[in-house]
Amino acid sequence: MTNITQDRILILDFGSQYSQLIARRVREAGVYSEMHAFDMSDEEIREFNPKGIILSGGPESVHEADSPRAPEAVFDLGVPVLGICYGFQTMSEQLGGKVEAGDVHEFGYAKIDITHQDKLLSKISDEKNQSEVWMSHGDKVASLPEGFTVTSSTPSCPYASASDESRGFYGVQFHPEVTHTQKGVELISNFVHIICSCGNAWNSENIIEMRIKQLQDQIGDQKVLLGLSGGVDSSVVAALLHRAIGDQLTCVFVDNGLLRLNEGDQVMQMFADNMGIRVIRADSEARFLSALSGVTDPEAKRKVIGREFIEVFSEEARKLDGVKFLAQGTIYPDVIESAASKQGKAHVIKSHHNVGGLPDDLAFELVEPLRDLFKDEVRKLGVALGIPHHMIYRHPFPGPGLGVRILGEVKKEYADILRLADDIFMQELRQSGWYDKTAQAFAVFQPVKSVGVVGDGRRYAWVIALRAVETVDFMTARFAHLPYELVDRISTRIMNEIKDVSRVVYDVSSKPPATIEWE
Ligand code: XMP
Repeated sequence: MTNITQDRILILDFGSQYSQLIARRVREAGVYSEMHAFDMSDEEIREFNPKGIILSGGPESVHEADSPRAPEAVFDLGVPVLGICYGFQTMSEQLGGKVEAGDVHEFGYAKIDITHQDKLLSKISDEKNQSEVWMSHGDKVASLPEGFTVTSSTPSCPYASASDESRGFYGVQFHPEVTHTQKGVELISNFVHIICSCGNAWNSENIIEMRIKQLQDQIGDQKVLLGLSGGVDSSVVAALLHRAIGDQLTCVFVDNGLLRLNEGDQVMQMFADNMGIRVIRADSEARFLSALSGVTDPEAKRKVIGREFIEVFSEEARKLDGVKFLAQGTIYPDVIESAASKQGKAHVIKSHHNVGGLPDDLAFELVEPLRDLFKDEVRKLGVALGIPHHMIYRHPFPGPGLGVRILGEVKKEYADILRLADDIFMQELRQSGWYDKTAQAFAVFQPVKSVGVVGDGRRYAWVIALRAVETVDFMTARFAHLPYELVDRISTRIMNEIKDVSRVVYDVSSKPPATIEWE
């Protein structure tokens, strides 16, 4: 088997909000990449053995005292280097050029005039020798190091890009990694393929093949336990492990009674019936509802749900004999974020997997087969492993489930009504094509009664709120501008089909100041 991570690109992170995007773009180009902090030691860099290095952007100015610099090994290793924004500036400064503080911060679209076609800018210009790029910088390079040639400029940025092709050093002031840069993908592909001579080995089929081999080596003939939630990450882990070790895998699916309509049955059908995976379904609705009885505060509800989850999961785990490993759906952004926040190399246990804090008598070794993958790579893997598209591209669902979508105290009666309303909402979103145009959508149960009229009678029943948002990062979000006809159809259906609902409202709050969930 070819080693698909042998052709690898090292990304040194100087703190730009776009650094992760660089790693993703390189991988989308079919080349394995890893992102590390800019102060990686010379020895570690040599050991990593990259075929090329990319220096990311960053918030600092090279003029500031103690501003970060690229390690010496970057320029001594004899592999091509691409500096982006701050990366270009520090590279210029370290190689003998000059950077000057910009009076104005240049932010947004710009057109570069390509004045010299090097390998990096190959096939990115239009018929006027221009290309649209995304700029975001204050400082700029004012004189180039010896051996460098300017390759493009804008009216306000004389060195928008430059290179010393004899040494394989390239720099761009703009951000090729963001989608606003028209030919950014091509530029990054030029760097990794033409300049660094990397192959195209990083793709789903190869990743699956490599991962299965690694899992078999790690696990041998031991048993593995996985908490299956039905979410994307744990589903992909289940499918991958099943391929690698078959019946040595046991999944525990905790049905807490706070799932969407028929969700528990669907998870069982998909994994147990269709894929033949051993899944233990822990039906725990009564237990969760009883623990939640009388609890109204959102954070208190989250804690109760988390605690019950761990207890149920632990009880099921104790019933199994000789399990050595616990599998987790940790993905690469979790790893990067935990490293960035200086928590060291500790394992991140995602709160929504809810298996952190297992009791001491359950001492497992961890198996984390998605640890080096981005979410979009995990999704592609899931599709390649045969998990249906609609499961892989589902909206995220919070760990506490309907527990935080029923305001205040959670009761079975409320959960049942909410499930029906939510299901109608989802059906209509899917049918109208709006499901894929929104990032997250759901119904929320309002524990207030409102008057309605049905036929000749008065109805005094519950209120349902509909929430749909558009967002990429879930940090900020805009309420989705669903067509009125669609909202009309959904609200009519909910009030007609569910006798306990007398009114439907649409949430028009954006985040901030509101959050996506109501609790
Ligand atoms: P908010 O409501 O903070 O939500 O704007 C941002 C994203 O996080 C999800 N969310 C949670 N996920 N456990 C989870 O696993 C939680 O307690 C939780 N609270 C919010 C929310 O659904 C949205 O995608």
